[in-house]
Amino acid sequence: MFRSINRLNLLGLRRSLATSAEQRLKSFHIYRWNPDTPEIEPKMQTYEIDLNACGPMVLDALLKIKNEQDATLTFRRSCREGICGSCAMNIGGTNTLACLCKIDQDNAKDLKIYPLPHMFVVRDLVPDLTHFYKQYKSIQPYLQRETNPPDGRENLQTIEDRAKLDGLYECILCACCSTSCPSYWWNQQEYLGPAVLMQAYRWLIDSRDEATNLRKQMLQNSMSLYRCHTIMNCARTCPKGLNPGKAIAEIKKQLAFD
Ligand code: SF4
Ligand code: SF4
Ligand code: FES
Repeated sequence: MFRSINRLNLLGLRRSLATSAEQRLKSFHIYRWNPDTPEIEPKMQTYEIDLNACGPMVLDALLKIKNEQDATLTFRRSCREGICGSCAMNIGGTNTLACLCKIDQDNAKDLKIYPLPHMFVVRDLVPDLTHFYKQYKSIQPYLQRETNPPDGRENLQTIEDRAKLDGLYECILCACCSTSCPSYWWNQQEYLGPAVLMQAYRWLIDSRDEATNLRKQMLQNSMSLYRCHTIMNCARTCPKGLNPGKAIAEIKKQLAFD
């Protein structure tokens, strides 16, 4: 009984604090386009959010808008903790994950949100990643071996060989890096781009894989790899702190000494 009275008092106190707290409205300008009305050009739409009643991340604001103001606003998200890669978008001029991006609490500053740049748009903040995934598939991102492991069960790896995959396997294929790369913007049909190339490297240096020569051959042409000019936008933007530009440089070194 004593406990429930205390809880009621606490709830009442919280409610009165919430109503008395001043609103802190911040403007979010969000890219909108609907494929069902192609005659209407893409536009920016503005939503006001009370930061005092919103979670700290940009994804919290998007969900609040969708739940409370405009159910038609469309974006991808799933894990809300930087694991699935689906909430990648351009926030305040930077490609990043909405769920890992903190809202700037200065409500005098507006925030602009666009889909990932230089991609076809499915709707609003949803980019078409079909070609990106096709490119990923093209590098055969899986273990290939002609021989069975000695014990017939597991392909073992030394601790040192396993450590070589650190900084590569953590990639969540969010496409933030590829869509920040000027070379990828202009040569997207043939240049594989930083995300896919980093995964190509991840398989090239996996001590258990036996398709190294085939993997190298696939990259030995003027477009798939050599469109990278080491501009390094990719490493600057990666929300997981990875460095695809460095992985690409390592592939170039390997091919040069073949
Ligand atoms: S390297 Fe980083 S930015 Fe690029 S796809 Fe992987 S996680 Fe995303
Ligand atoms: S380093 Fe290469 S892959 Fe990365 S942004 Fe620059 S050109 Fe693109
Ligand atoms: S929702 Fe999964 S990475 Fe943002």
